[in-house]
Amino acid sequence: MEILTGNVNEEKHVPFIEELSDGYRVTIGKPAIHPMTDVHYIEFIELYVDGVLAAKKEFNPGDTPVAEFTVAKGKEVYAREFCNLHGLWQGEL
Ligand SMILES: [Fe+2]
Repeated sequence: MEILTGNVNEEKHVPFIEELSDGYRVTIGKPAIHPMTDVHYIEFIELYVDGVLAAKKEFNPGDTPVAEFTVAKGKEVYAREFCNLHGLWQGEL
């Protein structure tokens, strides 16, 4: 599957990553949260640390597409999310 990306400030599908004291928070939609309706929603968020899938959270319509992952910190951090209409997107910290 093609992995899409773009400017996190302009494209609401690009995961926005923030560092926490004990891990990372990933938000889909900055500043406006991505829709989570029955026909258009984020199915999952994955967090990769130093090239390895460190954590994953799945979502249902009506949820808020934000995930806080308690994981070991790393040097290279990126996240992927899957929108049921718009595909797989990646964003870096
Ligand atoms: Fe979408």
